[in-house]
Amino acid sequence: MQVQIYRNYDQMSVAAARLIAAQLRIKPDSVLGLATGSTPEGCYRELIRMHREEGLDFSRVSTKNLDEYVGLDPSNENSYRYFMNDKLFNHVNIRKEATQVPDGASADPEKAAEAYEKLCASMPADLQLLGIGGNGHIGFNEPDTIFHASTFVTALKPGTIEANKRFFHSADEVPRHAITMGMRQILQAKKILILISGPAKAEAAKGLLAGVVDPQVPASILQLHPDVVVMLDEAAARDLPAFQQHESADRFGNCYFFAE
Ligand code: GLP
Repeated sequence: MQVQIYRNYDQMSVAAARLIAAQLRIKPDSVLGLATGSTPEGCYRELIRMHREEGLDFSRVSTKNLDEYVGLDPSNENSYRYFMNDKLFNHVNIRKEATQVPDGASADPEKAAEAYEKLCASMPADLQLLGIGGNGHIGFNEPDTIFHASTFVTALKPGTIEANKRFFHSADEVPRHAITMGMRQILQAKKILILISGPAKAEAAKGLLAGVVDPQVPASILQLHPDVVVMLDEAAARDLPAFQQHESADRFGNCYFFAE
């Protein structure tokens, strides 16, 4: 894994957007795997700016999102479909019909998960963007005794409900289930970019880079992928041994690079 540590969230976000923009310039019909949550918002803002000011073109891009809450209609402000429209798709020249999010409003979520797995299998990602939960979850792959391969319906952990309640009026309103891509689709991406920001993610960052692949830290499976870029801000990186011993990190401009 290539680890890049930035001074702060904004610098990390701009670097992430530049990497995605480079992907789109090299391959304008790229398939992007996309993520929700607060972490990628800065990256999406920068992509919008690049579209407006630098002509970054999304007209041939397709996307597939990691996950969606069960029971939320796309018109619900807390649905991930709404988030993606609001934070990115409505502001760039992407074809909405080329953007995929699991159908959380389906009367049969299991069937919707199956359908999403099939759809995703037909469009492998060139680049998969990920955030991470405080407990190491990616998408909504929560800590478990096994890694789930296919898209599935998952029950959210109490800690995840607690962390995500900030977007809702109360914890009671947070859906208890979600449809999430499993590890197969995530790992089939040609390249993976994971963003980690803030002190609340320091533990998860350590788990991701600790060297042990453990379903209790779902993101740790990324160690099996040949092309992962991990971008962190300093607050999230503070517990990484390699960062604490600066001699093992190469300083380059505002960023430390090292390989794990
Ligand atoms: C949610 C999403 C994840 C995201 C995580 C962290 O649970 N399903 O994809 O990575 O939250 O979110 P945040 O970036 O807001 O901390």
